[in-house]
Parts: sequence; C-alpha cells; structure tokens
Amino acid sequence: MSPKRPPRGLAYRTASLRNALLTRLPDSISFGSLRARHIKQPIRIEEMRLTSAHWPRAFDGVRIAHLSDIHFGHLLGAERLAQAVDAVRALRADLVAITGDLVDLSADESPLLFEHLALIQAKLGVFIVLGNHDHLDHPKAIVRGAKEAGLIPLVDDSVRVGGRDGLLVAGIDWAKSIPACAARLRRCGTGRADLLLAHNPKAFVGAEERGIPLTLSGHTHGGQLARSGNRRHNLVFTQRLSAGHYAHGESHLYVTNGVGAWFPLRVNCPPEIAVIEMRSR
Ligand SMILES: [Fe+2]
Repeated sequence: MSPKRPPRGLAYRTASLRNALLTRLPDSISFGSLRARHIKQPIRIEEMRLTSAHWPRAFDGVRIAHLSDIHFGHLLGAERLAQAVDAVRALRADLVAITGDLVDLSADESPLLFEHLALIQAKLGVFIVLGNHDHLDHPKAIVRGAKEAGLIPLVDDSVRVGGRDGLLVAGIDWAKSIPACAARLRRCGTGRADLLLAHNPKAFVGAEERGIPLTLSGHTHGGQLARSGNRRHNLVFTQRLSAGHYAHGESHLYVTNGVGAWFPLRVNCPPEIAVIEMRSR
C-alpha cells in the first residue's frame, strides 16, 4: 500500500508559484529554447582521488559515483534522466550516492523516476537521502519508491555494507542550518561513519568534528552562475561551502553542481556527476 499523501501546504503552493514564474515562464517566453539549451549541456564527469587516514584500509581504492539534484520534473524529464543514469552506470562504481532533490516539485512522477534509477546497481549499494525539494510534496512516497527500486534510503540512519567490519554509510534528512544538520547526524547511530550523505553541505561542520573522512552533498547547484576558472566565485557566495572539494584535517567534503536545477540557466557551472576514488593512508 502506498503511503497516504499529506495535504499540500504553503511550502508546496509557494514552490508551485516559483515553478510557474521562474521555471515555466522564462521557458515559455523563450519558446522552449531555454529548456532545450539547458538540457543539451553535456554532463561533465568530475573525477578525483582523495586520501584520508580515517578511511578504512579494507576499502582502499573504492570508487563512489555521486549524483545529485536531479529535480525530476519540467526541466529535467525522462530522456535527460536516462542520459544521467547511463553516465552513472558507465562509471561502474563500487557505491553510488544520490544526495537529494530527486524531484523538483510534485512526487506524482516519482514511479517513472525510480524506473530509471532502478537500473543503477553497485556492489556496495545505491543510497539516497532527501533534499528540500523532496519535502515539498510527498517525501514518504519517495522513500518508499526508492526502497521498491532496490535503492537504500537513509533518513537519519546508517548502514554497514561490505561485511561485518564493512563501510559505515550514514545519511541525514534535509536540514537547513548547521545545528539542525548536526542534530540529525547525532541520530544516525553510534560510531563514526566512514561516509556521510547530506543534501546540505552545512552538514560538513558536524562531520569534520567527528572526523568523518568523506561527506557528499549537493543543494547549491554550484551557484549555477560562476566565474570562469574559479567555481567558488559563484552566485551562492553567501554559502561558505558552495562548490567543489573542501578538506579539513582528515575530512573531505565534495559539493557537486548536480545534474538538474529549477532555473534553466548555468554559466561556467556545468551539470556534473562526480566519481571519487577513496584512498586510506
Ligand atoms: Fe537542488
């Protein structure tokens, strides 16, 4: 039985208005060319190798594919999603992390979304966490859809994969502030996670305090408008952790540009899928 839909409240109605004004209107004024140009941009594969003394030796060399901010809906439909899924599958990663904003607004089309995401498989699992957009309509339907598609949703929870002494993967639900992210992280269970998935990069503040070797986030879309040659000089300059790789001590954070958006414009900020090879020291 599918979970009962909660009544659509003020957040959904506000987001619907924004969707009409900032997503659909610019597109219709441009006779669809903004959207067409937006989804024609090639998806960049951002590859990196990160080293941490806290990364377990048994998992030295593990490759993690990081997909985020799909925003399945008007701007990013099934055809573009299929391209992103094919790109992830081609990476043949050991673990896949999908860090939130799976849908843009309505969860009604999530069965189609999960039909595509179910094609992604990885030895250590395919994980999802929810973003702020996933909470606009029917978050429980997204969690349920993920489970039915064989993905592993983490809602303030952690699981160990790859055996009894395996990799501890934690994931937190959407939280807006640093203290709220930290509170969710405390709910994830005992022990220091090896990998944290959090839509909001602000979770890194709590993660580095705990010495978590790798945190993967999205949310900012890399600012969508960035200065050429310096992705940190972007439109979300108020966010300290807005784009790319950050390191503190033995802890790393990667904030991906994501593949989708709710506004059909990206400048010097291409849609991307990251692939991270983790090495232990
Ligand atoms: Fe997003």
